Amino acid sequence: MINYKTLGLVNTRDMFAKAVKGGYAIPAFNFNNMEQLQAIVKASVETKSPVILQVSKGARDYANQTLLRYMAEGAVAYAKELGCEKPEIVLHLDHGDSFETCKSCIDMGFSSVMIDGSHLPYEENVALTKKVVEYAHQFDVTVEGELGVLAGVEDEVSAEESHYTKPEEVVDFVTKTGCDSLAISIGTSHGAYKFTPEQCTLDPETGRLLPPPLAFDVLAAIEKELPGFPIVLHGSSSVPQEDVDTINKYGGKMVAAVGIPEEQLRKAAKSAVCKINIDSDSRLAMTAAVRKTLAEKPGEFDPRKYLGPARESMQKLYMHKIINVLGSNDRL
Ligand code: G3H
Ligand code: 13P
Ligand code: ZN
Repeated sequence: MINYKTLGLVNTRDMFAKAVKGGYAIPAFNFNNMEQLQAIVKASVETKSPVILQVSKGARDYANQTLLRYMAEGAVAYAKELGCEKPEIVLHLDHGDSFETCKSCIDMGFSSVMIDGSHLPYEENVALTKKVVEYAHQFDVTVEGELGVLAGVEDEVSAEESHYTKPEEVVDFVTKTGCDSLAISIGTSHGAYKFTPEQCTLDPETGRLLPPPLAFDVLAAIEKELPGFPIVLHGSSSVPQEDVDTINKYGGKMVAAVGIPEEQLRKAAKSAVCKINIDSDSRLAMTAAVRKTLAEKPGEFDPRKYLGPARESMQKLYMHKIINVLGSNDRL
């Protein structure tokens, strides 16, 4: 049993309380490799932002859970080396699918876990989430639960349509489970292909395609039921058109896709939404930079020469999100 505190990590409790009070959101960035992690740490140090490092099932399968945990421990040391005296870094399990997975992460030093029972019948979701909370709280590990289903693919949980969170269920869920934060469904979805152009309307002023707005009325009703309680938004990538264009210009074949407009996320960050999950935008930034470098320098074969620019692109993206979307800068 390794307690995250000995690794220099923190849980989400104080971080979320400050974010809700301060009207900003903590960035939760997924990581799978060293370049992503370096970019996240550098961005959070340079902007003085707390940060959540997220590990998904896909990441655990790809990079190994143990190795990722050691990398997160290294991230704390790296942040200090970069000049941050007191880094606030959370290591979080994203979309935990069972009690056993959550327990295994808690036992090896994760400071926060999500148990995603959103696809289960309500009472089963309550029971599973409660079981994880009871275990996690013994070690002061915080737990994110989920109510409502996002459209698209939630790791292995597939939902054709989204089912918005029912505000009338949230108090019962939070009271019965004791979870520390709640992921909700208000119209975001996972992946780069959130909305097709056909689902959008053209903004005559900017010429941009605008997807259906997030259900801010549902968010407001949830906030009314649970004043000050930390709310989480998954599926919050914005799918920058420049990155999609760069990918396609240099040999990619991404079909038209539209993400969540950043102004909507900015609005959400000012509410009780205090954790915003971003993964796909980082994948797009990385792929765009790699494709561009390899296309422009076809003789290059040193991975550092194309992963280096990819890392820089991701750092720029993370800093942009922190400063211009979430508002978590200058909080350390
Ligand atoms: O919520 C999903 C995340 O973007 C992680 O996806 O399982 O492909 O790593 P992944
Ligand atoms: P995106 O696919 O929109 O980046 O969402 C990531 C996410 O919610 C991870 O849990
Ligand atoms: Zn998610």
